[in-house]
Parts: sequence; C-alpha cells; structure tokens
Amino acid sequence: MDNLQLIVKKYNIAIVGATGVVGETMLSILEERNFPVNNLILLASERSSGKEYWFRGQRSTVKTLNENSFKDINIALFSAGAMISKQYADIAVSEGCTVIDNSSAFRMDSDVPLVIPEINPEALSNHNGIIANPNCTTIVTLMALNAINKYSKIKKIIASSYQAVSGAGQDGINELIDQNKAIVIGQDPQIKYFSHQIANNLIPKIDRMDENGFTAEEMKMVNETRKIFNDENIRISATCVRVPVKTAHSVAVTIETENKIPIDNVREMIKNAEGVELLDDPLNNIYPMPLLAEGKDSCLVGRIREDLVFENGISLWVSGDQLRKGAALNTIQIAEKMIEMGVI
Ligand SMILES: NC(=O)c1ccc[n+]([C@@H]2O[C@H](COP(=O)([O-])OP(=O)(O)OC[C@H]3O[C@@H](n4cnc5c(N)ncnc54)[C@H](OP(=O)(O)O)[C@@H]3O)[C@@H](O)[C@H]2O)c1
Repeated sequence: MDNLQLIVKKYNIAIVGATGVVGETMLSILEERNFPVNNLILLASERSSGKEYWFRGQRSTVKTLNENSFKDINIALFSAGAMISKQYADIAVSEGCTVIDNSSAFRMDSDVPLVIPEINPEALSNHNGIIANPNCTTIVTLMALNAINKYSKIKKIIASSYQAVSGAGQDGINELIDQNKAIVIGQDPQIKYFSHQIANNLIPKIDRMDENGFTAEEMKMVNETRKIFNDENIRISATCVRVPVKTAHSVAVTIETENKIPIDNVREMIKNAEGVELLDDPLNNIYPMPLLAEGKDSCLVGRIREDLVFENGISLWVSGDQLRKGAALNTIQIAEKMIEMGVI
C-alpha cells in the first residue's frame, strides 16, 4: 500500500453486482485499503435499485445497471455473473473503462490476462481492457502452491475442495441458514437453491457436468492453473464439494514436484510467501480451518507432510476466505497492481 499512498491520481470506480456477497465485500475492502477512489457508482439489477450503502462516511445509492452506466468510469469491478459480464464488459471498455471481471466469462480468452497478483502480475502488462479474476478455489489452492512451484516445478496436483455455501452467493447462505433453522425446530428443510439438502450434508457436484465426468468447477481448476502457472503440461485432477460451511473454502492438496523438497523447507517457503500464513502445529491442534480463515486476507496453510504415494510428493491443507482472496480482495489487488505498473 505504500506505493499507492504516493499516487495522487484517484479513480472513478463502478461495482457491478454491488449488492451481492462479493460486491459488498469489494465495497468494504476498497474502504479498508484506502483505495484511491474519486467517485463510486454502485450498480445492480432493478430489484436493488435505491438500496443504500455507506462508503467513507457518505451515502451511496444503488443504481440499475444499463448501457450508459460506464460514462466517466475508469475502473469497473464486475461481479454479477457471466451473462452480465458478457453483455456489459465490452460496453464498459468502449467507454475507456478497465474491467476486472469476477465471473468465468473471459478467463480462458487468450487476450485476457488471468491474474493472481502474487503469482503472475507480469500478465497485466498486456491487456485489451478486460482482466479476469480466477475461480475462487483455484486462487486459494494456487496461493498455497506458488512458493513451492517457484522452487521446484509442480508436475501433478490432486485436489479435493470443501467449498462454503457463500461461494454460491447470497442464495447459498440463505439456504444453509433456513435449512439449519428448520432442522432445529423439527421441520423438513426446504430445498430451493442447491440440488440437495446442504445442511448436515455434502454435495459432490458444483456447477454443471462436463462430458469427461468432471464438473465445470473442477475443469476451471485444471485450465486456470495451467494459464496462471503458464504451464500447459501440469497435470491436475480435482474433486469439488459443497459443504455446510458459511464462508471460506478449504482444499486438501497433494502435489508431485520435479525435485524432492525437504518438508522443513516447504514450511519455510510457506512462512515467507506473500499472502499466505503458516498454521502447522497439528500436535497442538493448530491447522487451518474455515472459521479461522473467514475475514482474513491471507490463505492459511498447514498439515504439510511428505506424501505416501508420489515420489517427490507433498500433501497439505489450505483454507482461504473465498469472498476476500478468492474474489473481492484479489480483484482490488489487481487494480492496485495495475496502478503501480502504470497499465491502467
Ligand atoms: N461468492 C463467491 O465466493 C464468488 C467467488 C468468486 C467469484 N464469484 C463470482 O462473483 C459473481 C457474483 O457472485 P456473488 O456470490 O456475489 O453472487 P450474489 O450474492 O448472488 O450477487 C449477485 C449480484 O449480481 C447482481 N445481478 C444479478 N442479476 C443482475 C442483472 N440482471 N443486472 C445487474 N446486476 C445483477 C445482483 O443484484 P441484485 O441485488 O439486484 O439481484 C447482485 O448484486 C459471480 O460471477 C460469481 O461467479 C463469486
């Protein structure tokens, strides 16, 4: 943040999807990080028009998104789903706006950088107005693996995710709360949003099925990891599971590296890496958990051990607040990095 404090220029910012769980988190992170905001415009659907938020002591009223929403906006943070991004991102760019998009709409486009600022900030130097924020589970996983991959290339990743209901937005949170309440008072939980009851349950399918038997969520981890690590040969297999946790995704990860790395060195790398925190003292019951990760900027890494299957194998466990580092924080860090690099 020191660099930003030296910059006098301030930016007109629009949040598209400002009333969603990610949009609201963006609003508070812009305030927390003292982002150089000149004018702030909050956009959502007609449903939320007129809703009010406070930003830096001033009231800000939500407006309905339309084709004229981006006049005089410098940076638009999109977080209203892929359909809205596909419909409005080009309009925003044609108004001279830089779009940082949280949806899956453009992630795999070859001319769209897909960026985690701690890992591949250099990708930001070449863009056509749209930058994509990676999938939340991909971000949390790669934050744990980045330092290891820099030291010795990762050849294989096997990941199993435990994804919080807020990853599915406000509807996901409401469903878990309502079902828990119903169970407590002895009623049948109503299923409105997920395909099965989520309270007291796990759902091993997130997003639609692909023809190869993996889900779209799992294939996002495969394809996005290759793009972010700039390595088409890395082999990844993922199982993504929705769990009855409100916030923070956790991932059990096993990797194989090119060279053997002593476990103590892995711990040291994680300890020194930017954006992650080592929490690895299982004998004293210290390890990452969603409740510890919720509200934190860092992804928490622990349970680091030599794997029993792979030759140069390491297993670990990571928990990260997917509304913050998995979405809103990473988006705002992208904007900060672009300002620092002078590419916005
Ligand atoms: N939740 C996560 O952990 C997470 C992580 C990474 C990425 N993302 C991505 O972030 C995006 C938002 O997710 P979310 O979890 O914040 O969802 P959410 O809580 O359901 O919020 C959706 C937001 O989109 C707005 N919206 C919906 N339809 C719209 C329309 N026709 N025009 C304008 N605005 C519209 C909603 O406005 P109204 O209030 O008017 O309905 C609301 O502000 C999605 O693309 C999601 O994939 C989410």
